[in-house]
This record gives sequence, structure tokens and C-alpha cells, in this order.
Amino acid sequence: MNFAVFVSGLGSNLQAIMEAVKKGDIKADLVLVISDQKDAFALKRAQKAGIKPVYIDPRECSSREEFDRKAVQHLKEAKVDFIVLAGFMRILSPWFINEYQNKILNIHPSFLPDFKGTHAIRDAFKAGVKETGVTVHFVDEKVDHGPVILQKKVTVTGKDTLESLEEKIHEVEHKLYPKAISMFVSGKLN
Ligand code: GRF
Repeated sequence: MNFAVFVSGLGSNLQAIMEAVKKGDIKADLVLVISDQKDAFALKRAQKAGIKPVYIDPRECSSREEFDRKAVQHLKEAKVDFIVLAGFMRILSPWFINEYQNKILNIHPSFLPDFKGTHAIRDAFKAGVKETGVTVHFVDEKVDHGPVILQKKVTVTGKDTLESLEEKIHEVEHKLYPKAISMFVSGKLN
């Protein structure tokens, strides 16, 4: 199986995924990394690891769907079977989601359905919850929504700062995402 990772930022999840592929924990080939941000550090990580980095400029696309259609050209060329979103900050068009139904995975830094949205860790911290978490799920037409693949809770202690909570959550993400991808690849989710 071939897969692509979509990124917009730092790419720490991408890094964890690339390492899991290298170790053989994910038995699939990561063939493409696509970004909507030219300077995303994630693209540099991909390049360093010898994986094709692709930047698509959203300003050259007249609609959400046009961006997605350009992405699909690359996905088809590279014979991609499934897609992993790792800090990809664009909402995908219904057309794209339909093309790859049950073949798009996302990670979200909260225990969904709690704290949807871009600032999930900060929102949970500010709300003073004792527990938050990480969710890996299939993507459907709604944002931060869709069948859950794996979830793990993360405890928030009185000693936690926003920064320490972010660190704890990312640490969990870097284990949970490769595990979920590996389950998907080995057909355990069918
Ligand atoms: C992660 O916290 C992920 O859950 C969210 O965006 C962040 C991406 O971080 N969707 P990175 O680019 O993988 O370091």
C-alpha cells in the first residue's frame, strides 16, 4: 500500500510516522508529502528522508476543490491508496472526501468530541479539565468528526502549564498515530 501525508507545519507527527515506516512498524510506503504551506518544516523533513515533497499554492486555486483536484493529480501519479492528515490546516472539499471515503485518517489533540477546532490543547487547558487526550479518526464531511480509530486520555495535573500539556499530548500522538496507521494498513479496521 502507498500513502501520502498532508501537512502544514512542524511535522513532528510526520517524523514519527516516517520512523515507524523505516522500522517496519507501518507496513506501507510513504510516497508523498503534500503541503499548503511553502515553508512548512515538515516539507524539509520529507526531503531529508528522501520522500517527495509537494507544495500546492492555495492562492493559485480559485476554490477549495481546485486545490484538492491538484492534490489528487499527485496522489494518482504516485498511486496513493490512503491519506494521513498530520497537522494539515485546510478543510478538505466534500468532493475529495467522497473520492477517498474511509481512506483519510486524521489526528486531533483532544478526546473527541470534546474540544474540536484549531486550539484544542489550549482550550482544554483553559477550561481546567482534569483529563484531555488524543484522537485518531477517519475523516468525514464534518470538521474533527468521523469514526474513531484510537483514542487515549491524557491527565492534566495541577502542576501542568500549557507547554507541559502540549508536550505530553504530542508524546502520546507520536505513538498513537503510527499505531492507528499500522492497524489500518493491516486491515484490522475492516
Ligand atoms: C498535532 O497536535 C495534531 O494533533 C494537530 O496538529 C498538530 C500537528 O503537529 N492536528 P505536527 O505538525 O505534527 O508537529
